[in-house]
This record gives sequence, structure tokens and C-alpha cells, in this order.
Amino acid sequence: MDVTGRGVPGVGSDAAPRHLTFVPLLMGLKNMRDETVPATELLICTKCRRGQEVGDDAVRPGAALHRELSETGLPEGIRLTEVECLSNCSQGCTIALRGPGRWTFVFGNLHETNHLDTIRDGAARYRDTPDGLVPWRERPEHFRKNCIARIPPMEAQNV
Ligand code: FES
Repeated sequence: MDVTGRGVPGVGSDAAPRHLTFVPLLMGLKNMRDETVPATELLICTKCRRGQEVGDDAVRPGAALHRELSETGLPEGIRLTEVECLSNCSQGCTIALRGPGRWTFVFGNLHETNHLDTIRDGAARYRDTPDGLVPWRERPEHFRKNCIARIPPMEAQNV
């Protein structure tokens, strides 16, 4: 009985070892995952009123902030996600930055038009770190003065 696979198309001495045929497939999956899961997610509370009286039909400052960033764009690799509350209502507008294996940061007191570049700059700096920890002096000034919370990644030990 021939157990070498000779005579079967694609199997035998001319074919790549069977275990190697899975390598390109696995590499493809890894690349696909890298392209579809951004390293950084920017959460924006669309319910924030920023201390203002806002009518039922009016656009809230948080929703305006989300719209402005959606329309004007974010740095590459950052996904924008709207959320309904980050429990920082009295100090809105509120955003959070998070990512797999990274510290999560919540920032407040943001303005829907004045802080667009600050948010883009801070999000890009966050994206460019392996763990989300941007050195203090390299953070945008508003981020340094308005950090509401920082939460360690699930994987972190002894924090
Ligand atoms: S309404 Fe924006 S944090 Fe609660």
C-alpha cells in the first residue's frame, strides 16, 4: 500500500509539506485581522450637554462633536464609536480612547468645535504607543488637565 501520497495531485514528494500549506492561510487571517480591527477606538458620548440647556429636538454638543469628527476625519487606524453615556455627564463633552492590550483613558470638558485637533492629536499619539500610555509631557495640554479616568488593560498585572 502506498502511504506517500504519490499519484495523488498536490500530494507527495513534489508538494509542499502538508503542515506548510496552512502557513499562508494563517498569515492571511492575521493580515485580515490587522486590517479590520483598529488598534485604537475613540468613543464619543453623543448625549453630553456640556453644561447647557438643550431642547429635546436640538443637537447636543456631544452629538455635534461626533458629527464634526465623522465629517472632518480621524487619523488612520482610529475607529470612531458613538456611545450614549460615559458617566461623566457634569464634565462633558466626554470621550474615551481604548484598544486591545492598552490602557483606557477617559477625557472630559471637550468642546464640539474647539477641540477637534486636540482630539485628533491625542488619539494619534495614543495609537502610536504599544500600551496606550503616552508620556505625560507628550500629551495634548487639554488631555493632561482633563483626564477623568485611566483603566488598565485586562492583561495587566500588578498595576
Ligand atoms: S451624558 Fe455624556 S457622559 Fe453622560
